[in-house]
Amino acid sequence: MRFETFSRRAADQRSDCLVIGAFEQGELGTEAAAVDRAMRGRVKTLLSRGDFSGRSGETLLLPEVSGVRSQRLLLVGLGPKAQFNRKAWRRGMNQAITALARTRISSAAIALERPAARELDDYYFGRASAEITGSTLYRINDLKTARRAPLPRLGTVFFGPVSTSATADVRLGLRNGAALSDSGELLRNLGNLPPNVCTPRYLGARARELQSRYRQRVRVRVFDEAAIKRLKMGCFLAVTRGSEEPPRFIVLEYRGGRRGRAPVVLVGKGVTFDTGGISLKDPPAMDEMKYDMCGAATVLAAIDFAARSKLRLNVVGLVPACENMPDGRAIKPGDIVTSASGQTVEILNTDAEGRLLLCDALNYARRYSPDVVVDFATLTGACLVALGNHHSGVMANDDALARELVDAGVRSDDRAWQLPLTEEYAEQLRSNFADMANMAGREGGAITAAAFLGKFTQGMRWAHMDIAGTAWLSGAAKGATGRPLALVSDFLTRRAAG
Ligand code: BES
Ligand code: MN
Ligand code: ZN
Repeated sequence: MRFETFSRRAADQRSDCLVIGAFEQGELGTEAAAVDRAMRGRVKTLLSRGDFSGRSGETLLLPEVSGVRSQRLLLVGLGPKAQFNRKAWRRGMNQAITALARTRISSAAIALERPAARELDDYYFGRASAEITGSTLYRINDLKTARRAPLPRLGTVFFGPVSTSATADVRLGLRNGAALSDSGELLRNLGNLPPNVCTPRYLGARARELQSRYRQRVRVRVFDEAAIKRLKMGCFLAVTRGSEEPPRFIVLEYRGGRRGRAPVVLVGKGVTFDTGGISLKDPPAMDEMKYDMCGAATVLAAIDFAARSKLRLNVVGLVPACENMPDGRAIKPGDIVTSASGQTVEILNTDAEGRLLLCDALNYARRYSPDVVVDFATLTGACLVALGNHHSGVMANDDALARELVDAGVRSDDRAWQLPLTEEYAEQLRSNFADMANMAGREGGAITAAAFLGKFTQGMRWAHMDIAGTAWLSGAAKGATGRPLALVSDFLTRRAAG
């Protein structure tokens, strides 16, 4: 996919299809009005006849046009002009690409109106344009045997018109957005694969591929069960006991910053299938527990993004990966295990397994003397209940770090919301038999899970992102969303620049 800018009048840009927007009530923005003049009022005629209403979601393709250099014209409804904002623009962009993808068109010049610069500056205009194009063209790597619908031909997209002074910013945005959408494809593919394919070993193999692809900058090590035992990761090992699939602990190191500069460590939950274990989950929607490795996939994709965009930053990715299965050997409620940190944990519910993987991986992060540590996990149903599908949860022992993540989410339209992580929550994890229990009842479940992790991150600047509600969608649109990679990529890009 090629993303370019154009600076001439939209009517003068050559392509297979020129794309413009129209508002409701026949109103045209400046770009569309200029195109309409070049076409001797053809667009206005369409609107006044009622052939196009400008409602959001509406598109109309004119296969034959004159007065412009492009061969076709696509009209996209942008909704009411007074309410035109970044969200309406994103929607319009998405509709435009969706409509183009249904055709055999291979190049398009997109000249949609842009929202005010305070809503969307030049860099983010470029970034979001490439990101939306890439993610709209994404197709699930399904295993259907029927003949596939032909893939969209769209290969080159021009965005504009962009003034000369803005071109550099827009191009930088386009480059970052393209990297984001390529890495996002990796994330979504991993999430969507069935759990009999996407196993811990498979994640390890895909991580190794990153080393082959970015040889100078990325080093990958994959530890097997014997090595994990040597690392004394007793909590992680407890979860994998019930599974026939061997676990993996994956370490990815991206070197883009100064030697010796403290890295950002990213940790991702890699439960490739979560049955709940002996505390077995209910059957409805259990298939969705294949997404329980989306934190791991986020980390792989983040390393891929960093390497692709050559970020001047050191980033380490840590991925504990295993299955959570019931079995004669599986852990039971009441079992007490010893974490790599030496702290003991009473397992009250085997379905609270994510934190058991993460606590040992977070402890491993210490050896890097990290600048900051951020973990990503589909950790609790409680977070989904609290925030729905709209915001990822952020909990941290450092408010500035939480802020940084929340702000990155706002800028990249991949939003997150901070939940309080005060000491009361940790007290709820008291056990009469071990240093702590692995769960603390239903109330505040997203936060008590974070409080558990907090017992393993003392002395490090750390944030936890619960992505249980945001990493995938259920229902008709079932599939991995690619979140929170947009947030993470913005977070890393800013850190590399700062
Ligand atoms: N992977 C689940 C969390 C989850 C549940 C994500 C539903 C998305 C949708 C996690 O391992 C889990 O089972 N958590 C338990 C914790 C509880 C037993 C303390 C939960 O949320 O019910
Ligand atoms: Mn679970
Ligand atoms: Zn889980």
